[in-house]
Amino acid sequence: MKKVAILISGGGSNMVTLAESMQGDHPARPCLVLSNRPNAGGLAKAAAMGIPTEVVDHKTFGKDRAAFDAKIHDVLTQYQPDIVALAGFMRILTEDFMRKWEGKMLNIHPSLLPKYKGLHTHQRALDAGDSEAGCSVHVVTPELDGGPILGQARVPVLKDDTAETLASRVLIQEYRLYPEVLRRFADEETGVLELTSEA
Ligand code: GAR
Repeated sequence: MKKVAILISGGGSNMVTLAESMQGDHPARPCLVLSNRPNAGGLAKAAAMGIPTEVVDHKTFGKDRAAFDAKIHDVLTQYQPDIVALAGFMRILTEDFMRKWEGKMLNIHPSLLPKYKGLHTHQRALDAGDSEAGCSVHVVTPELDGGPILGQARVPVLKDDTAETLASRVLIQEYRLYPEVLRRFADEETGVLELTSEA
C-alpha cells in the first residue's frame, strides 16, 4: 500500500476528494495533510477524516524559502510518503526541494497546461476568448506548472461566464480528474488521461 501526503493552503476541497477516493482496493492511503497556513479550512476536514495533519507556517520563515522548504522536507520525511500530492498548495517550492521529491510529486493546476501557468488562470482564459477551459494534473518539476502532464479535463466556456462561474465548473472537473490520475499514478500506469464534460 502506497502512502500519500497531501499539501494544501486553503479550503482543501481537492484534498477531500483525494482522501475519500483512497479506500477499498485503491493502491494508496493518505498518510498526512500538511498546510503552510495554520488557518487553512482543509486542516479540520482532514482531522475529521482521521488523517494526521501538520502545519509549516511560511510566515515564520520570512523570505527564507530554503529554510521553509527544508522544514517541509523534514516533516514529509517523518511520514515517509511514496507520493506527494499538491492540492491548492500556493507556495512556489525551491528547485532543491523539488529535486528531492522528483518523480513522486503531483500538482493540480486550474488551466489546460501549457496555457496559463501561474495565477488568475480563468480570467486569462476569458480574456483570451478561449472556447474551452479546464484543469491539468502534472508531475512537479523545477519549471513552474511545467512538468509532464498526466491528465486533463475540459469544459466549454459559456457565453456569460465570469472567472467565478468558470472556476466553479472547472473545480467539479478537478474532483473527477485528480483522484483518477492519482490512482493511475499509484498503480504506475502510463498514458495521459483525457476527460471531457458537456458544461
Ligand atoms: C484549485 O482550483 C486548484 O486547482 C488551485 O487552487 C484551488 C484549490 O482549491 N490550484 C492552483 O491554483 C495551484 N497553482 P481547494 O483548496 O478547495 O482544493
